[in-house]
Amino acid sequence: MIQHQSDSGIGFKASAFGPDFHWGVAISAAQNEGAILSDGRSVSIWDVFARRSGVIKRGVTPAQACDFYHRYKDDILLVKALGFNSFRFSISWSRILPDGSGKVNVQGIRFYDDVINECLLNGLIPFITLYHWDLPQVLQQQGGWVSPLINKWFRHFTKICAKAFGDRVKHWLVLNEPVGFTSLGYMMGKHAPGKQNLSFFLRAVHHAAIAQAEGGRILRKYVDGARIGTTFSCSEVIPATLNKNDLTAAARIDLLLNRLLVEPLLGKGFPEDDKGLMDKMNRENLSWKYTDRMQFDMDFIGLQNYFPVVIKHNSFIPIVQASEVSAKSRQVPYTAMGWEVNPSSFQNIIKRFWKYGAIKELMITENGAAYNDKFIGGKINDADRINYFQTHLQALNQCMKDGVRISGYFAWTLMDNFEWAEGHEARFGLVYVDFKTQLRTIKDSGYWWREFLR
Ligand code: NOJ
Repeated sequence: MIQHQSDSGIGFKASAFGPDFHWGVAISAAQNEGAILSDGRSVSIWDVFARRSGVIKRGVTPAQACDFYHRYKDDILLVKALGFNSFRFSISWSRILPDGSGKVNVQGIRFYDDVINECLLNGLIPFITLYHWDLPQVLQQQGGWVSPLINKWFRHFTKICAKAFGDRVKHWLVLNEPVGFTSLGYMMGKHAPGKQNLSFFLRAVHHAAIAQAEGGRILRKYVDGARIGTTFSCSEVIPATLNKNDLTAAARIDLLLNRLLVEPLLGKGFPEDDKGLMDKMNRENLSWKYTDRMQFDMDFIGLQNYFPVVIKHNSFIPIVQASEVSAKSRQVPYTAMGWEVNPSSFQNIIKRFWKYGAIKELMITENGAAYNDKFIGGKINDADRINYFQTHLQALNQCMKDGVRISGYFAWTLMDNFEWAEGHEARFGLVYVDFKTQLRTIKDSGYWWREFLR
């Protein structure tokens, strides 16, 4: 229940989370930068994938996005104006290494130097995500995440970024949602590079598990005083009923959504307790074996949560034999993406990760909601989004009171951007973007944040 006890509308202010708490917004290169061929950058898998007909709503591509490449100074000022103290952005691999693995593009380095310096100038702590889904297309042509060479390529890229930016950037995230980009990109075909192949997916998972740990080791070696993390998408999985088939289906989806990539990182190996699933994987004759290359002692884990899922048994769905019961059909509140709004599930999934015991600290590196914002009279009244943030912050605060160590919260996202397969249809920003003019307008939720953080 929301109690109206202070200006923030939730009974407490940001200071309740402690003086050193990271309050930030997160963005990513492919979703915001645009300028895909400027200053020596080569194309990424998203630039190429988006040109296929029918894969992105209304045929939008990331070619312009929010033009952050040219407008970063003003956008960073916005982050500051809204009262945040931290800013999370990702590095476009194709800007730094247009050949994917060879020579460094000095102009690419210079761009991120400028972004970092601008953050520091404005008192914002920069958080770098190394990989937020935009692999250089040249590397995809050699297999991308399916090729074992990806680990060598990624080590090279990581080392270059660590050496170039590590003098000023101390907060690092290795991968963004590895379950997301491996499953949507290599098995479901909904995201770049658009593959639909179980064996590709499993190989990509294997290589991502190695990459996240190796990335951590390289950052540790080259960045003095680094605080190193990596991010995981997560969703509480709720069985539709208590009958055995639904419970089995829910456990399987839970394994895939929540456990698959964090457990090897924590030194527990890939989860092997779902026999049916394991048999299928083994039949693919893949090396599904854990090696200590996949373990790394992260300083913190970044959790990204938006919604829970309700799962029922469905024998028609290959491999997982499970399907989702939509929020709409259950008559619960949901966002413009059809995602259930459920702050208790946010609390439950955070506590679940904390229970591993091996995680030192958590940060919420993404949380937010898309709504069909209406631009009326120069204003955007997005009360639903404000309510989403308020109730999720209350849940987060409760987790901390219950003993979970949480050191940051990043709202997704600064401004409406290129939302992958949704194109410009899903607006998650605290700032409204008119994609024709690139005009930015702070939404009511942005003003709410400014008040909350004041
Ligand atoms: C997670 C991804 O990291 C981000 O890129 C995406 O825009 C949000 N989820 C919302 O879908």
